[in-house]
Amino acid sequence: MDKITIVGAGRVGESTAQILAQQEMCRELVLLDVREGIAEGVALDIQETAPLFRFDTRVSGGTAPEAAAGSGLVVITAGLPRKPGMSRSDLLDTNAAIVRGVVDDVLRLAPQAIIVVVSNPVDIMTYEAWRRTGWERSRVFGLSGVLDAARMAHFIARESGISVKDVTAMVLGGHGDSMVPMPRFSTIHGIPIEHFLSPEAIERITTRTRHGGAEILALKKTSSANDSPAAAIAAMVDAVVYDRKRVLPCVAVLDGEYGLGDVAMGVPCVVGRGGMERVIALPLTEAESRSFSGSAQAVQADLVRLRAAESGD
Ligand code: 2OP
Repeated sequence: MDKITIVGAGRVGESTAQILAQQEMCRELVLLDVREGIAEGVALDIQETAPLFRFDTRVSGGTAPEAAAGSGLVVITAGLPRKPGMSRSDLLDTNAAIVRGVVDDVLRLAPQAIIVVVSNPVDIMTYEAWRRTGWERSRVFGLSGVLDAARMAHFIARESGISVKDVTAMVLGGHGDSMVPMPRFSTIHGIPIEHFLSPEAIERITTRTRHGGAEILALKKTSSANDSPAAAIAAMVDAVVYDRKRVLPCVAVLDGEYGLGDVAMGVPCVVGRGGMERVIALPLTEAESRSFSGSAQAVQADLVRLRAAESGD
């Protein structure tokens, strides 16, 4: 890919830029931030690692959206981050306005792009970004499941004492406290995790996964996680750039799958050059369906709150 733009040079944007540059995902990587000097400084810092990590990606940064012109992929991380004690939903109104502004720039400057949304609350931001574009849903999707499943995989490896390289985990639903870790679709080299772990251990894993972001925020206090989100974004970008057709849980706009429409939330998807190319509809048990519906209701409640705020109710 010729050019990728990351909007937002906060910690997630910065860590993502370092990985994308180092892995030579594109020839030109642009970092944008509304704060004067930040993106430029971050870009220069990353560029100066090139002789050490030996990459040719050209990295630049600035405040002018025009630098994103012609990008094939745009990652939106811009927005206020959470502070300890805040839920992702507390960022709703402010971040929606920021994301809409970014989307308008993308429409004007990079109308062929694929958009990967990261700003929180990501399910709502993805839906808003997609609505704003009027594009096919495949071209606008969001980060959640790849990160949440990575956290779950780490916890499974820790509890079982088996290499994380053999662990595959699955998390569905909204990227919030109501997310739905799916032990039934999580395996150690294809073997269901129940074979290795007690129900109590699995319960510990699912609870810790649900609060994985908050756990890190509570420890770091001044910032949310950035390295694991960046690694997860890089996996999604890699799937697009190399047309891998990977099965990744992503925030996708639903069109009847799981009995839902007019909402975006985490579901397994096939990701390739076209973006979120296909939603995989999994058969859920009654209990799983209940959890998934509960998560959908939480996301829909945020959407209703956002609409009410917009109309000044
Ligand atoms: C997280 O879960 C930042 O929402 C992100 O850490």
